[in-house]
Amino acid sequence: MLRWPHPRKRLRSEEAPLAGSEKAAFGDVHIFLVERKMGRSRRSFLTQLARSKGFVVEDVLSDAVTHVVSEDGEASSLWAWLKDHSRSDLSRMHVLDISWFTDSMKEKRPVAVETKHLIQDVLPEVSTPTSAAAVSQYACQRRTTTENHNKNLTDAFEVLAENYEFNGMEGQCLAFRRAASVLKSLSWEVRSSERVHELPCLGETMEELVEEILQYGRSFEVNKILSDERYQTLKLFTSVFGVGLKTAEKWYRRGLRTFPDVLEEPSIHLNRMQQSGFLHYGDISRAVSKAEAQALGSIIDEAVHAITPDGTLTLTGGFRRGKDFGHDVDFIVTTPERGQEERLLTSIIQHLKQQGILLFSDYQSSSFDMSKLPSHRFEAMDHFAKCFLILRLEGREVEGGLCRAEGDSRDWRAVRVDLVSPPPDRFAFTLLGWTGSRQFERDLRRFARLERRMLLDNHALFDKTKKEFLAATTEKDIFAHLGLEYIEPWQRNA
Ligand code: UTP
Ligand code: MN
Repeated sequence: MLRWPHPRKRLRSEEAPLAGSEKAAFGDVHIFLVERKMGRSRRSFLTQLARSKGFVVEDVLSDAVTHVVSEDGEASSLWAWLKDHSRSDLSRMHVLDISWFTDSMKEKRPVAVETKHLIQDVLPEVSTPTSAAAVSQYACQRRTTTENHNKNLTDAFEVLAENYEFNGMEGQCLAFRRAASVLKSLSWEVRSSERVHELPCLGETMEELVEEILQYGRSFEVNKILSDERYQTLKLFTSVFGVGLKTAEKWYRRGLRTFPDVLEEPSIHLNRMQQSGFLHYGDISRAVSKAEAQALGSIIDEAVHAITPDGTLTLTGGFRRGKDFGHDVDFIVTTPERGQEERLLTSIIQHLKQQGILLFSDYQSSSFDMSKLPSHRFEAMDHFAKCFLILRLEGREVEGGLCRAEGDSRDWRAVRVDLVSPPPDRFAFTLLGWTGSRQFERDLRRFARLERRMLLDNHALFDKTKKEFLAATTEKDIFAHLGLEYIEPWQRNA
């Protein structure tokens, strides 16, 4: 069984300033050298050596230790010794082979912890496939399929997260999203709140919430939110394409509660996107099926090849993660000729228009500029040329027919489609960024920043220690740069 190391619990929050001094980041690593097998004199020599290079080496195995280094090749005896000699939470430390130490001395900085450095605990058999203590706090170190064994819990957590978002409480919102994501990754059903105790990202209040749901089948707090007028209204308004939280709040404050309220209010001016959002609301608020996504793929692929034989269309977003339904369909379009990506996208839009299937298009030209990277605004949208479309999809194009609303006799439906067109050398970063899920992306970036001193976004990966960009032609290259095991797209449903 694989045992994921827990990085040390950090007091630093997600919103902590990015620009930490080099020294402080270095000081985050507290090494403890295990004397067993190493011997006293060699231990003292290695301690001196590390300290002379600016490393923090602890004499005792306390809570401050982040990296335990041993020359004992026998994992079981080492772990037994560690458990006997420490009252600290070992799951929060990296337990490493001497190779990590020698590599770090060579590089004069703590190198990224990789699987090859780990001395893994040989865990006794546990009753569940994944022990709770083995779950990483980072979604990018978990494998999360579309199969959710704890939907009753994650649904409740997501309502709370959304309500915090609606009330501008970003920190709380993120905490609940993170906790929901941990629960989604479990290959077992949580049946007692005690099991939750061992999980990362779930605090005491969350444990109580789990207990309440397990005991009563519902949560008082969640039910209160679901019947709250403000929550219901904001949820309704933000479900319209082009309506964000700010607009929804403005309408709510003006006393508007329903779509007719909004549409009949003479002083409200809807922008083009919102007009289309209301016009096609029934269709685009209904899930898109896999068969419908495939049909759209063929239509757009045909458009791409009508323009250039070298162009490629790649499915991304939720459907690439193996989801059966989505709220839209996301594609990346590329051409090997540098600088032609914008023309390709505008030509595709033109082609779809000529076919009479373009119901709406919002095209955003590229503002990508490699010289302005790395960006510290990693949560922001990327700068590539892209378009948000609504397309008309005919029933005859879809294998097995359309996903239609009851009583709808039309033989077509409107579907939301996003296209993004990066320069060819940025493809791997775009693919990784657009495949999602949102939580997976957030944690990839957080992991890169906090564990590796690297900045990752949809454009590039920047190593702050080496002060250089790391090249990648595939997603695997990016995972390797980050010292992460590769996670397949269908395991990224965090
Ligand atoms: P979506 O919002 O389409 O989500 O964004 P999804 O995972 O496909 O889920 P459904 O099924 O449509 O609801 C897909 C990914 O693209 C990224 C998002 O962060 C998300 O991870 N994205 C989207 C960008 O990176 N930039 C954008 O401009 C838009
Ligand atoms: Mn999508």
